[in-house]
Amino acid sequence: MILTPHEACEPAAVELVDQLWRVLGADVEHMQVEHHDEVLAATSHLPHLLAFGLVDSLAKRSENLEIFRYAAGGFRDFTRIAGSDPLMWHDIFLANREAVLHILDDFRDDLDALRNAVDTQDGHHLLGVFTRARVAREHFSKILARRAYVDAMHNTDLIYLAMPGGKVSGRIRVPGDKSISHRSIMLGSLAEGTTEVEGFLEGEDALATLQAFRDMGVVIEGPHHGRVTIHGVGLHGLQPPPGPLYLGNSGTSMRLLSGLLAAQPFDTTLTGDASLSKRPMNRVAKPLREMGAVIETGPEGRPPLQIKGGQRLTGMDYEMPMASAQVKSCLLLAGLYAAGQTSVTEPAPTRDHTERMLQGFGYPVTVDGNVATVESGHKLSACHIEVPADISSAAFFLVAASIAEGSELVLEHVGINPTRTGVIDILKLMGADIALENQREVGGEPVADLRVRSAKLKGIDIPEDLVPLAIDEFPVLFVAAACAEGRTVLRGAEELRVKESDRIQVMADGLQALGVKAEPTPDGIIIDGGPIGGGEVISHGDHRIAMSFSVASLRASAPIRIHDCANVATSFPNFLGLAAQVGIRVAEEGK
Ligand code: S3P
Repeated sequence: MILTPHEACEPAAVELVDQLWRVLGADVEHMQVEHHDEVLAATSHLPHLLAFGLVDSLAKRSENLEIFRYAAGGFRDFTRIAGSDPLMWHDIFLANREAVLHILDDFRDDLDALRNAVDTQDGHHLLGVFTRARVAREHFSKILARRAYVDAMHNTDLIYLAMPGGKVSGRIRVPGDKSISHRSIMLGSLAEGTTEVEGFLEGEDALATLQAFRDMGVVIEGPHHGRVTIHGVGLHGLQPPPGPLYLGNSGTSMRLLSGLLAAQPFDTTLTGDASLSKRPMNRVAKPLREMGAVIETGPEGRPPLQIKGGQRLTGMDYEMPMASAQVKSCLLLAGLYAAGQTSVTEPAPTRDHTERMLQGFGYPVTVDGNVATVESGHKLSACHIEVPADISSAAFFLVAASIAEGSELVLEHVGINPTRTGVIDILKLMGADIALENQREVGGEPVADLRVRSAKLKGIDIPEDLVPLAIDEFPVLFVAAACAEGRTVLRGAEELRVKESDRIQVMADGLQALGVKAEPTPDGIIIDGGPIGGGEVISHGDHRIAMSFSVASLRASAPIRIHDCANVATSFPNFLGLAAQVGIRVAEEGK
């Protein structure tokens, strides 16, 4: 219910009307009359004009009987509102003349462009309009849901109920790698020619990146069952987006895009959901400013990021203070546009998908020890990308099969890039039985089938050099530690505190709630293996926390209720389906 009180309205009367509607169950908003008329001209009045106009236009034609006889669902759906009250709509158009004319003129321009595209057989234009339109409705509902998420957390509390016990078995392929999926869209968009992607992760994070590039004028078809076709626009072909780029929960999108956008001729604003809005962005904003970028952050270096376009960037040598592939990739992407060379030195090896994929697109990158260097002036040429299954998603099942007695599971086609396999090394140090079968290289990335059998795990001191190589897998590794005999100690992992949640604290809280001895430290955690009970845990909107506690149920003595699980869809859309398939008894509560 939209109320549009005049200045002369008595506040108490407005409040009374407001309350009346709320008591009846309405969501009430207040708007200025002019604003209301502008918004409604677009969302209601224009569609009515089109429906009335289309039906009348067709009805006048001599073959009209034929047209109406064969009119199918599409015509019916589009013209349903032409059955509305003619007199009322006559009044509305006369009363809201200005705003309607404005939106109608804009629409007429767009319609002319479509006509022209049909006339000149410009399939690219048609595909652009159609692919954008198809996802736009869903995309905008997500942005609007963000408001609900911030305002009323309880509305979006998706609860998983995980029943205790069980074992896992079978052969599965988990969805595509998140890091590689993001990069395939970015580099495919900046390439010259058409890039085909297979195995793309249809999770919300990667889709946020995809939408951002659509918003910047790139025509992208799909995804359909993991297939995406990107019509690259070249390094200098992006267009200004119509508004802020909304990146949902995805830190990777925001950090990598900031490097790219700092070098564009237009301004951009990057925003995200409640969790992303708390994450540190100075780690990219500061070095980008040293290259000449103009970027403003929110308070304390948090999103939103306002990026001023039209700057001339200069390459530099940057020593990263933390081991972060996102920071490295951000600067290398900025380096594609910066005068001279851009080098990034990392304190410890981090995932190198950006370097590999740039090379796959024919862009020269030099990697010398811990230094990666690019220089501007080259171009990206479209290619074919096969995204392997995500080892970070496979990790949940590696731990599941390890801790549940009598399990044997094969995970197919998993990416085993050496900068990502820390989880396998750590689990093997703990005594896990994991075999890498059928090792091969696909599109510049090594892959294998992973066979895992249950094993008696023991607690270990996790070697610090493995931390960046398993950075996303610690929540589920903590579950493995809780099931191991003896003590597991993690140090040097303070980065875990600034992920989608503070993963040290949130996991410690959850494990303690289940009766496990878990003591957080500033840069890690100490976990004593022992029995796991049932109880309530809160994932704080962090996908990996929600999935980790689902896995813990295999060794729990009673059900585990896991709160705030909606974000599992950011990285692992079919987690519940695959979990059920292999024998983990977790489902949405009440389903
Ligand atoms: C990622 C890098 C890592 C990782 C994230 C994905 C990437 O972040 O945690 O999930 O795709 O580059 P940091 O660079 O912050 O360690």
